[in-house]
Amino acid sequence: MERKEKNQQLFKLRELSQEGGGKERIEKQHDKGKLTARERINILVDRDSFVEIDAFVTHRSTAFGLEKQKIPGDGVVTGFAKIEGRPIYLFSQDFTVFGGALSETHAQKICKVMDLALKNGVPVIGLKDSGGARIQEGVDSLGGYAEVFYRNSMASGVVPQISAIMGPCAGGAVYSPALTDFIYMVKNSSYMFVTGPNVVKTVTHEEVTSEELGGAMTHSSKSGVAHFTMENDAVCLKSIRKLLSYLPQNCEEKAPSVKSIGPDKTKAEALDKLVPMQANKPYDIKDVILGIMDQDSFYEVHENYADNLVVGFARLDGRSVGIVANQPLSLAGVLDIDASLKGARFVRFCDAFNIPLIVFEDVPGFLPGTDQEWGGIIKHGAKLLYAFCEATVPKMTIITRKAYGGAYVVMNSKHIRADYNIAWPTAEIAVMGTKGAVEIIFRKEIENAENSEEKQKELEDSFNDEFAHPYKAAERGFIDDVVLPSETRERLIRAFELCQNKVDHVPKRKHDNLPL
Ligand code: HXC
Repeated sequence: MERKEKNQQLFKLRELSQEGGGKERIEKQHDKGKLTARERINILVDRDSFVEIDAFVTHRSTAFGLEKQKIPGDGVVTGFAKIEGRPIYLFSQDFTVFGGALSETHAQKICKVMDLALKNGVPVIGLKDSGGARIQEGVDSLGGYAEVFYRNSMASGVVPQISAIMGPCAGGAVYSPALTDFIYMVKNSSYMFVTGPNVVKTVTHEEVTSEELGGAMTHSSKSGVAHFTMENDAVCLKSIRKLLSYLPQNCEEKAPSVKSIGPDKTKAEALDKLVPMQANKPYDIKDVILGIMDQDSFYEVHENYADNLVVGFARLDGRSVGIVANQPLSLAGVLDIDASLKGARFVRFCDAFNIPLIVFEDVPGFLPGTDQEWGGIIKHGAKLLYAFCEATVPKMTIITRKAYGGAYVVMNSKHIRADYNIAWPTAEIAVMGTKGAVEIIFRKEIENAENSEEKQKELEDSFNDEFAHPYKAAERGFIDDVVLPSETRERLIRAFELCQNKVDHVPKRKHDNLPL
């Protein structure tokens, strides 16, 4: 073969691999409002930065005449690229080839980029659009999934792993994204479930659509499986770029920092009058976050799930931080099972990747009731407590108003190794709220009083004088200072400067035993 012919052979193969499943299937993909695997990569990564690997890989199956249907790439595009100048590895499943179904070789391609990501300390992003196990390959495909799951587990806490579900993701296939750090879903075109609507109907006689059972809104609001719901493919991919801007490349690196900008001016100016003086009157904790953090830097995670707790990334003086905040607008900011799980997962992510934590606290306690007790609020609440206890990143807490009971301890209190704890003058740090406390400790006095109502009011006033403020805690050093809301940003910045090289340890052990 001449040199020219050899080159032509290469060009032809390249062209074939670029075509995927062909024009017709690409059109079908577009008709569904979905982009192709390659179009998605183009939006995700910096221009011209994608370098493909394994473009010529084909499956080896001969079952059901499969040897006659070989498409270079075998249903997944893999390689490396850059996002905002920093390297990433990625794989993008190609629904136009066997419905993106996972064969043995398809799995090997994914495993190769995951191994490289782990070795080189680089994040890995998976764009999922797949009919699941390639049925014709049987157990080889199942083995392929297992290889991927194993690598997801080994990479956990070492490099950030991000999954975007941009089509079907069913059966055991869901466990790969579930093992990663963040799951994005696209509205109306993605779904995740262990068993689909037909099986559900047979087994439980429930009639449910794919969207209701495992669509983007279901998983971002009901189950909490998905962290983000996006309008379409392009918005989703751009949002992944944004998320990465807060994260280090791996667990050895510090979180990145950018040029510092001040907070939203209007929100900052409103801070001193934001918290209502009545303990049961709500306000939006996001106004506090926006008034203190760098302008436009707040990137909320799990926005539609357990909204009594707000979590997300932000920047303070240009540095990435993780925010955990009780939300008085929802259930008075109480901690329940879902909020505990949401918070614990986020805190553990931040700690694994050296992202300092800032807690805004206004919490009346844990949610009472049989639902919560029977659902295991004890073990789930313990997860959040555990996560804060074990975290060794710089940790700061600002008590804006209520800090009652066990929830006071859990929300990054001084006692569990927080570095800098401050309270606003409106803070109330106590075992419980005034009314409940008075009714318990003065029950007899109230019952025996000539005017019970008057007596209760009198006792509540004296209880408030004694406990409904931050100064008892300040006397003991449980908080480091009481500051005005408008002084908070500067204080946090000063405190963080000192924590840049913080070293803290946990005892040597094989691994912990987080209460699951
Ligand atoms: C091989 C598959 C496939 C699969 C789809 N295709 N799924 N090929 N293995 N699992 C092929 C189809 O034959 C078709 O090929 C093309 O992909 C597109 O599929 P359509 O059905 O035409 O597309 P659509 O109507 O959009 O429906 C998509 C779908 C459906 C909902 C995903 O294809 C489907 O239900 N597939 C089977 C899903 C499934 O049960 N997977 C196994 C799950 S269990 P042509 O040539 O016609 O274009 C599992 C276990 C994992 O995954 C265990 C891990 C431990």
